[in-house]
Amino acid sequence: MPASAVKRLLNHYDRSARSLPWRSPPGRPAPDPYAVWLSEVMLQQTTVATVMPRFRRFVERWPTIEALAAAPDEEVLAEWAGLGYYARARNLIACAREVAARGGFPTTEVELRKLPGLGAYTAAAIAAIAFGQRAVVIDTNVERVVARLHGIARPIAEARSELRALADALTPNERAGDYAQAMMDLGATICRPKNPNCTACPLSSDCLAFASGTPEAFPAPKVRAERPHRHGIAWWIEQGDAVWLVRRPAKGMLGAMAALPGADWTDEPPAGPFLASVSHGFSHFTLDLHVVARPAPPDREGWWQPLATIDVAGLPTLYARAVEAVLVRRNALAA
Ligand code: ADE
Repeated sequence: MPASAVKRLLNHYDRSARSLPWRSPPGRPAPDPYAVWLSEVMLQQTTVATVMPRFRRFVERWPTIEALAAAPDEEVLAEWAGLGYYARARNLIACAREVAARGGFPTTEVELRKLPGLGAYTAAAIAAIAFGQRAVVIDTNVERVVARLHGIARPIAEARSELRALADALTPNERAGDYAQAMMDLGATICRPKNPNCTACPLSSDCLAFASGTPEAFPAPKVRAERPHRHGIAWWIEQGDAVWLVRRPAKGMLGAMAALPGADWTDEPPAGPFLASVSHGFSHFTLDLHVVARPAPPDREGWWQPLATIDVAGLPTLYARAVEAVLVRRNALAA
């Protein structure tokens, strides 16, 4: 792709960059590395629309990395509730404490990569956006843009190293942060997986997928394996106007998060009847969680959560939905 295409992309970004709470406007000094880091971690598996209000609330509560480093684990995990992929929140806490202890973020991609939970993508994104360093910032959106530009039809997973080399060759030495975010915006708003808006694209005259007449066919979709079902039992233990909650073990799915108590998840469905059931999609399986009433807590490790404040208990979505399902069913029976 000619250098003029990068210039067109940056000009397009100057005119149409999305205004996002963690961003500096195009051409302006870089944003706070704390904001860049936090937003990139939140955006790893979660959409911009979902992240925006959660990001704002988070930085209002902990405006600096030192403030976050000093926060109790349970408060940070509760603030993360509903965003999913809770290993991110546990790594976030570890990373905040390490960065606060060393007196600030390292400024190179290589050093950033050594921080807890920072993968290749996040390290490159922070180096480019917060520190203006040339770095190859490549996520699925960027992979799709590059694949289309070069007319690569194979599924992304099969072309990954080639796409990285092509992305590297495209990356300019100047305006590292704006370029990285211009590519992200292009992938999110114009070069969408379905219905790409090629007439609005500053790169269409260089794009082999566009020239083919069927840009959407590039790259070929991922072959999706069927997600297996797993099963879980959650116990509904109620006393007065409160329900018994526990903290899950630190390791494993939903590690260290607040939860309804219950048995280990299994591959075989349990026998009913149940107070309520919900299905929840995780990345590698769907969990059918069935709620069963029990008279008393099995041990002392937990707490009575008033139902009036269940919304702020920090329950991840799976358990928040299970609680909701029990309460909805009860209201229906009472009506
Ligand atoms: N997705 C991941 N990082 C992003 C960013 N900085 N801006 C917009 N979308 C993103």
